Amino acid sequence: MTLLREPDHGTPDRTGAVEARSVTVEIDGTAVTVPAGTSVMRAAGLAGVEIPRLCATDSLEPFGSCRLCLVEIEGRKGTPASCTTPCGPDMIVTTQSPRLQRLRRGVTELYASDHPRDCLTSDTHRECELRALAKTVGLTDVRYGTGGKNHLDAAKDESNPYFTFDPTECIACSRCVRACDEVQGTFALTIAGRGFGSTVSASAGEPFMESECVSCGACVQACPTSALQEKAVIALGPPERTVLTTCAYCGVGCSFKAELRGEEVVRMVPQKAGGANEGHSCVKGRFAWGYASHRDRQLSPMVRESITDPWRNVSWDEAISYAASRLTAIQAEHGVRSIGGITSSRCTNEEVFVVQKMIRAAFGNNNVDTCARVCHAPTGYGLSQTFGTSAGTQDFKSVQQADVILLIGANPTDGHPVFASRLKQRLRKGAALVVVDPRRIDLVRSPHVEAAQHLQLSPGSNVAMVNALGHVVVTEGLVDRAFVEQRCEADSFARWEQFIARPENSPESTEQITGVPAEQVRTAARLYATAPNAAIYYGLGVTEHSQGSTTVMGMANLAMATGNIGRAGVGINPLRGQNNVQGSCDLGSFPHELPGYRHVSNDAARQIFEQKWARTLDPEPGLRIPNMLDAAIGGTYRGMFIQGEDIAQSDPNVKHVKAALAALDLLVVQDLFLNETAAFAHVFLPGTSFLEKDGTFTNAERRINRVRPVMEPRCGKQEWQVACDLASAMGYPMHYDDGSQIMDEIAATTPTFAGVSFARLDEMGSLQWPCNAAAPDGTPTMHVDGFVRGKGHFVDTPFVPTDERTSRKFPLILTTGRILSQYNVGAQTRRTPNVQWHNEDVLEIHPHDAEERGILDGATVAITSRVGQTVLRARIADRMPQGVVYTTFHYPGSGANIVTTDNSDWATNCPEYKVTAVQVMPTSQAPASDQSLQESAPVQLGLVQT
Ligand code: SF4
Ligand code: SF4
Ligand code: SF4
Ligand code: FES
Repeated sequence: MTLLREPDHGTPDRTGAVEARSVTVEIDGTAVTVPAGTSVMRAAGLAGVEIPRLCATDSLEPFGSCRLCLVEIEGRKGTPASCTTPCGPDMIVTTQSPRLQRLRRGVTELYASDHPRDCLTSDTHRECELRALAKTVGLTDVRYGTGGKNHLDAAKDESNPYFTFDPTECIACSRCVRACDEVQGTFALTIAGRGFGSTVSASAGEPFMESECVSCGACVQACPTSALQEKAVIALGPPERTVLTTCAYCGVGCSFKAELRGEEVVRMVPQKAGGANEGHSCVKGRFAWGYASHRDRQLSPMVRESITDPWRNVSWDEAISYAASRLTAIQAEHGVRSIGGITSSRCTNEEVFVVQKMIRAAFGNNNVDTCARVCHAPTGYGLSQTFGTSAGTQDFKSVQQADVILLIGANPTDGHPVFASRLKQRLRKGAALVVVDPRRIDLVRSPHVEAAQHLQLSPGSNVAMVNALGHVVVTEGLVDRAFVEQRCEADSFARWEQFIARPENSPESTEQITGVPAEQVRTAARLYATAPNAAIYYGLGVTEHSQGSTTVMGMANLAMATGNIGRAGVGINPLRGQNNVQGSCDLGSFPHELPGYRHVSNDAARQIFEQKWARTLDPEPGLRIPNMLDAAIGGTYRGMFIQGEDIAQSDPNVKHVKAALAALDLLVVQDLFLNETAAFAHVFLPGTSFLEKDGTFTNAERRINRVRPVMEPRCGKQEWQVACDLASAMGYPMHYDDGSQIMDEIAATTPTFAGVSFARLDEMGSLQWPCNAAAPDGTPTMHVDGFVRGKGHFVDTPFVPTDERTSRKFPLILTTGRILSQYNVGAQTRRTPNVQWHNEDVLEIHPHDAEERGILDGATVAITSRVGQTVLRARIADRMPQGVVYTTFHYPGSGANIVTTDNSDWATNCPEYKVTAVQVMPTSQAPASDQSLQESAPVQLGLVQT
């Protein structure tokens, strides 16, 4: 499509504001009805009348500083600003008159007198609303000249790798400041100085890069001139066309306008109409897409006989037929179940569906698993046991109606930044936050946000904490009896009520386990249970534990007991990790479930696929990833296809993972880069970046978003084509003309997707499943009139301590997580300028623990667990509680997963990443992460198509 300019009506939409009344006004003779509270400027825009403006934009509250949007209102004196004037009943507004034209021209002239002349007179690269405005108001000459006092020699701030600030083009409209405050919630900018000396200042007059700025890009988007501008636009020129697509990083699933000039991506701009993000973004989606053209991309298939041989570039045909013949030979010798594969939650729904189909229909077994095994498998298990479906209950927008938010084991400002901004907006409007986390995450206290409670529990004690909260609800008479009687099973509730009321679940008893004072827990429980709307949001700090599934069920019990399910502002909401982890789970990536979470032993479900695929399917569940690895070491599992997943870096107990991979007769890896896992591969198949894919991703709110290609696959094939070719070469012909045909097959076989098609997604923008005859436009909130399973099911959740205990030898608990600028194993973000924020994994340690060990800030330390040792640089951080240390795993060299154990969730085998007993001591060895630094190669700003 040509360059998409989304409409900007100047001030925010007031639909759904507290006052539901509407008013009718007349603008230049046209009557328009709008919600009460709508500005005259917005009403005019809706009536098709654009009022000139500079300081207003509809993502921000009106400010009224530029005085350009003046109008005349019958019966009122003067010329009020239309952006700050709300519509009144029967108002008659005039937006064009000689007086208004004269006033606007005068104001524009003043702005222009302190603005680069070439901006107004020539068609430079700049995107400048002032230039457009000068044309609108008929300004041809600036009487004041530019010889007087001005800002035209002020120095540029080029410190940020992605955008510049050029004060000469700044008109001090404050849009950037307000975007940073209102939209992003970082409060990094201010207008310093007064009057003519006013200027934008990051933090205390620092360069952007050294300020609190987190590079979300909201200020750049809001800037009406080119004062804040993407460096890529300056280097490559303004974009000419748009392709609508979806971010490929986290489970928020932000919609973006990929803007291109010729064949090059010039920038990614968050889409205002995007359901998940509504025009906002974080540094990763907005700026860190250059990895797609990084020189490390492996674009040719490769083959080698042994993992000690050098790679040989080969044709696609040779690579596919080599992989197919070796997989077939392994099966002939060792049986049908001796091979399997892993789907990728970074890939599209269509790619995932085709890979699991290849495994079930062509390999003939259910040995398929996905990275959800190591992140949100407990969510799937816990929510399906209690509610009957394996997904979050709300859309992100729902948080705007929550009065109390219980945030457990999640750090959204780093992990899910766009959701964090929404959450902060709600908190600034008065909602209360309870943080349950061992670390003092940013949301505990950040500008204009302070948690009502921080339950700083010991790692591994989530179940005891959730039980204590439930205990208070039950014993203090806070149960929503009407909801429970109407919506939940009487018998399981009665059993749970007795269980949870036992003394061992009281806050006073669990205090020994959680370390959190009982009174604090009681206060938090009352807050949650008595709020009109209380919502739970959680992350991997819940799931990646030996009792991950138990905690999920405990939270579900809590929500049901207090009636916090089935409407906006409440619910249980997993903050999903990878961009398409929801989709990969939905579409049959688990060894026991066909697409749509139907058990493989379910004859009726199997028959649907058997008919469609013309193959008899295995009714026995296949192997989970940990079982695959154990069986590889045991010699019964010998061939594996791994798509877009670097298990040699991301999975726990790396030594064990590598031993298993090395034991395989054949490993086929498909990826963008030669990752750690590829070191054990015999066949390497190149993959496609999100900029080449044509399909859909499903985000954490069950929203199916289109991913549209901005370029042909650089390796020559879509990933689903590769799986089809491999299946066909193994004797099971698979063919699709395009991604939409795959979605049609998903819709035909999976009831929750029955109403989904590319055409419908193009029409609606996105759809939240279930989307079928009963819900043709999708389902933003689940379990509204009843639970998917019928009645809500309570599950008793006894606390069982993890086997991983601290001891004299291993006295500290290591917990892991991620950081804003890097993503997961870092394969993408390490290949972008994001390395400027985080170029190595470090170990955060409490000052007291550091002092006890003689560890100084920046010193290298050895971290030793029962399974391994790694060396990192230490950072002394008082946000850590005493006795707990923390690191990230974005760099392969740092080896956080060398020390994590293979303890796992009892129900799903999700690894217990969050609890590893370690010792930390100073060492003279070099940090393991030093090796990783060498990978930080420069990247191109745009994409050069090859
Ligand atoms: S990039 Fe984002 S965080 Fe940084 S100053 Fe702009 S709005 Fe604020
Ligand atoms: S940098 Fe842009 S948005 Fe910020 S005050 Fe200047 S002109 Fe306005
Ligand atoms: S919040 Fe997640 S989906 Fe949105 S831009 Fe950032 S990484 Fe991408
Ligand atoms: S747009 Fe109304 S005062 Fe600036």
